[in-house]
Amino acid sequence: MDLSRLSLPPALRDILRRRGVERLYPPQEEAVRAGILEGASVLMATATASGKTLLAEAAAVKAGMEGRMAVFTVPLKALAYEKQLHFSYYEGLVDVAVSTGEYSSEDRWLGKYDVVITTYEKLDSLLRHRPNWLSNVGLIVLDEIHYVGDPKRGPVLESIVAKAKYLGLKAQIIALSATIGNPEALAKWLGARLVKSDWRPVPLREGVYHGGEITYSDGGKRRVAVKAEPEVALAVDAIEEGGQALVFVNSRAATAKVAGRIAEFIAASGEKLIDPEAAAELARRAQEVAASKAIGRELAGVIAKGVAFHNAGLELELRRIVEEGFRRGVIKAVVSTTTLAAGVNLPARRVVIADVRRRDPLLGMEEIPVMEYRQMAGRAGRPGLDPYGEAIAAASSEGEAEYIMERYIKGPIEPVRSQLFSDVNLRSHLLGVVGSGYANRLDDVVDYLSSTLAYSQLGAVAASVARAKAEKSLEELTAWGFLEKLGEYYYATELGKLVNRLYLDPETAATYIDMLRAMRGSSPLAYIYLVIKAPDVPKIWRGRFNKKAAAEIISAFPSLLLDEDDEEFREEVKTVEMLWEWANEADEDKLYEKYGVGPGDLRVYADLFEWLGLAAAELAKALGMEERAEELRRVSYRVIYGVREELLELVLRLEGVGRARARALYNAGYRSLADIAKATPAQLAKVPGIGERLASSIIEQARALTAAEGEGLLKWTKRR
Ligand SMILES: Nc1ncnc2c1ncn2[C@@H]1O[C@H](COP(=O)(O)OP(=O)(O)OP(=O)(O)O)[C@@H](O)[C@H]1O
Ligand SMILES: [Mg+2]
Repeated sequence: MDLSRLSLPPALRDILRRRGVERLYPPQEEAVRAGILEGASVLMATATASGKTLLAEAAAVKAGMEGRMAVFTVPLKALAYEKQLHFSYYEGLVDVAVSTGEYSSEDRWLGKYDVVITTYEKLDSLLRHRPNWLSNVGLIVLDEIHYVGDPKRGPVLESIVAKAKYLGLKAQIIALSATIGNPEALAKWLGARLVKSDWRPVPLREGVYHGGEITYSDGGKRRVAVKAEPEVALAVDAIEEGGQALVFVNSRAATAKVAGRIAEFIAASGEKLIDPEAAAELARRAQEVAASKAIGRELAGVIAKGVAFHNAGLELELRRIVEEGFRRGVIKAVVSTTTLAAGVNLPARRVVIADVRRRDPLLGMEEIPVMEYRQMAGRAGRPGLDPYGEAIAAASSEGEAEYIMERYIKGPIEPVRSQLFSDVNLRSHLLGVVGSGYANRLDDVVDYLSSTLAYSQLGAVAASVARAKAEKSLEELTAWGFLEKLGEYYYATELGKLVNRLYLDPETAATYIDMLRAMRGSSPLAYIYLVIKAPDVPKIWRGRFNKKAAAEIISAFPSLLLDEDDEEFREEVKTVEMLWEWANEADEDKLYEKYGVGPGDLRVYADLFEWLGLAAAELAKALGMEERAEELRRVSYRVIYGVREELLELVLRLEGVGRARARALYNAGYRSLADIAKATPAQLAKVPGIGERLASSIIEQARALTAAEGEGLLKWTKRR
């Protein structure tokens, strides 16, 4: 279908043409016929690279231009910012905002935007706050809807849909996924028309590699001349054929190792395969940008040979450099964990899947789901980038090769199943339902639950199971003091409302409250320990166990009977220790070498402390523990910014000032806003890392702040 036949505003059509879209792909055409551009809810269960996301973007822009606000959700914060870059194509047509984090805010400011890009969690939290602008929302896009089966993220997605339905929002829902085994059931639950197709704009050939040979699912074979470990041989083979390779490995350590091996082969070929000058230039940039010089060196070393690694330990800036370098063809192979598995468009002619098994911290070696395999495979052969794509999995034996072929390449994708009715998830969900006034009596709660996927998947027993489980959860929430029951009605207590507003899991909130009550004395280590008790905070196992730190924590919580021989406790102590070093300005290299924690991980911890640490402080305040609340805030901000106490005023108040610049300013004698307000731009510009422009801006900010508030008055407000 040619674009000119679509009911699109002409300006939008022009922009799509400029993006290289002349005609719609067949699955897109079908979605248009199903009414995706006219307000009909649609589930697109169509192949990877079939243009789902692009069409949903167009639908969102069209909605925005017609005065219906569109909310576009993505699974990860990092993807939200990438999506924002995408939307800059539509500049002038719609105003676009990104909103992630700060779950306790209702973000009234979002009301004036046409398109809001957000994560699932953020939209769920907004639906709990019920800001006025919700009634203007005319379209909700749920990209990568297969996450609805994920034990943690899934219930959040479900709750978005259930709340939107229950609020009677007239919002159209567009849900997208290339990898769901039971799209019919999902479409029925969503109340959406189903568009299903296997069509792909660029053919994808899949195969298995074993004993030096690729066997394709169509029966074809190819001998690989390169003698090396399978994933290395497959990548080098692709590069020698003039293509680029994306290699998925199952651990972070393997990303750097395998990248190093591929780089050796490229170097041995006399660098004929790459553009050495462009690679050297890119390597310099990576080294310059890297917050950890050790990671920077490691990465620059392979980039100079046209290879890179990509994992969650890298900060976003470095990941972007790698992705850009790969897009420009300067980098020929990227070795990644699943950070690059979903939704992205990269010019990978060959995707290599090094292992279909992965270590699960609880279960040991596990096979990955077919769904995940297909997402990785689908990164190969993206339109406009390559004439065809290949996805090859490495097998360690003949038997495994057959198994991969049958299960992962030819077999069906598993159906998604709701996880909402697990105890933890349901409790959290129901506090939101009652606390935000969606339903108050058990009957109404059950009625509300009837619009969830969980309910629709239970079949004939749904009503009785939902009732029994809901009642149990409501009773538990009541026992914790978050709800109270008056006659038939449940109400959120003040504490319950607070927990709901803070978007805390009730079990985490109950833990925090118990620990606050049990706490003796006041030690920063104990506060950090309290915050990281939430299961959301990843624990580390590397590093030496510090007995002194452990003793300090144990003595702060005598009634918890903590045991220093307990493995879980030891990991928690290491995590506390690492964060405490960070908050005492240890540099990124040290943390990386000692604990294996990279700048990307530190960013994750900072985000968690912004949410959980500040939430714990609010709980302390609600319990009448003003001093603890203040100390929790201070410690949290120190972890968020990675600074000692004395730098808090500078990092918290001044835009453009992070830990490094704040330290430089402080050491040069500029210790407070008042000091800076008195300086001249020329003086300040002498401080390392502060250029002329920044100096003026900082002075202006400091003057405005001190004039408005007088000296010494600290209100923590800067948006990060
Ligand atoms: N009709 C079209 N004509 C030309 N290019 C298109 C068209 N539709 C989409 N594209 C381009 O094809 C690529 C893949 O599209 P998109 O990312 O929307 O696919 P997807 O179905 O969302 O894939 P995935 O399942 O992997 O997320 C993008 O680069 C997009 O700009
Ligand atoms: Mg997509």
